[in-house]
Amino acid sequence: MPTVLALETSCDESAAAIVRDRVVLASAVASQVEEHARWGGVVPEIASRRHLEALPPLIADVVARSGVSLQEVDAIAATVAPGLVGALLVGSVTGRTLARLHSKPFLGVHHLEGHLASAQLGEDPVEGEALVLLVSGGHTELVRVDAPGRYRRLGRSHDDAAGECFDKVARLLGLGYPGGPAIEAAAVGGDAGRFRLPKGRVSLPEGGFHPYDFSFSGLKTAVLRQVEALRAGGAPLPLADLAASFEQVVAEVLVERSCRCARDQGLGTLVLVGGVAANRRLRGLLAERAAEAGLAWRVAPLAWCTDNAAMVGVAACQRLASGCRSPIDLGVAPRLPLNEADRLYETQPCF
Ligand code: KG4
Ligand code: ZN
Repeated sequence: MPTVLALETSCDESAAAIVRDRVVLASAVASQVEEHARWGGVVPEIASRRHLEALPPLIADVVARSGVSLQEVDAIAATVAPGLVGALLVGSVTGRTLARLHSKPFLGVHHLEGHLASAQLGEDPVEGEALVLLVSGGHTELVRVDAPGRYRRLGRSHDDAAGECFDKVARLLGLGYPGGPAIEAAAVGGDAGRFRLPKGRVSLPEGGFHPYDFSFSGLKTAVLRQVEALRAGGAPLPLADLAASFEQVVAEVLVERSCRCARDQGLGTLVLVGGVAANRRLRGLLAERAAEAGLAWRVAPLAWCTDNAAMVGVAACQRLASGCRSPIDLGVAPRLPLNEADRLYETQPCF
């Protein structure tokens, strides 16, 4: 069973972990959220600098707690795409330098492959083919996974990602950043049926609607209109009801289209991963509707939904087991479709 040191610095969480196959020996995350919250979103330059400061002590910490020295690991892995270029570079350069120093193979990891692998950190790992609903701050995708590394995207958002929508709606409700946890907290005790909000659909050129794609920009505007109308009435905003109604419609639209896609594609297992998968209403609804539809379901453990390095380590262990290595001069990329993750293991660096 391979043991890997994994680094994650694609956005605003600096993270390191030591993972043995599917077992997390030690994991540490330093969140920059409070610093970016002042600006209402992630400031790339600040993110890079903070990664630079945070990463060395995080690595020292996971090495100490796991009891595994860098001489003993089988490989060093770092997220190399997609994400903020300056932020990715910090993890990549650190990982490649350590790999060179200790004469270990280096594996560049696709961030979304990391999220997919987070489902394997549960007690009941996914076996065989599955449909994965991946919902994060930057992505909303329905991915058919036939085997590790074999992906086909069957659905996506045409505008905002689900997490981005949580963040924007939180901002217009005057709640904090990141929006997901803020909305979830505000929604406690709220009436999820009070406000009727739209389930955005994506038109097909030939007429009708795309069955598995998403659109969240209209939902954001609908919340804004609702808030304006309520404010014009002069009464204090019913925050709990607004937050609960918003959460409910997002959860419904995600779960309905996922179940439909799984059924149409003949896939018997539905999996939920990504930062937004931390949302309890979404987790609950997915479990309920999947069971009704006769689908097996898994949700990534709560601890591994938002960005972390353990999931990157699990993805790297899978790649290592199938003989993958990245060239030591592999760079980083702000964008890379998930179905091109194999390119990270070509002999010549793909970027
Ligand atoms: O996966 P992630 O940590 O980073 C990206 O790869 O983007 O996801 C971050 C996103 C943010 O938009 C955040 O608001 C959302 O996940 N999020 C949540 C919750 N926790 C984090 N959304 C809804 N409910 C939550 N509890
Ligand atoms: Zn992520």
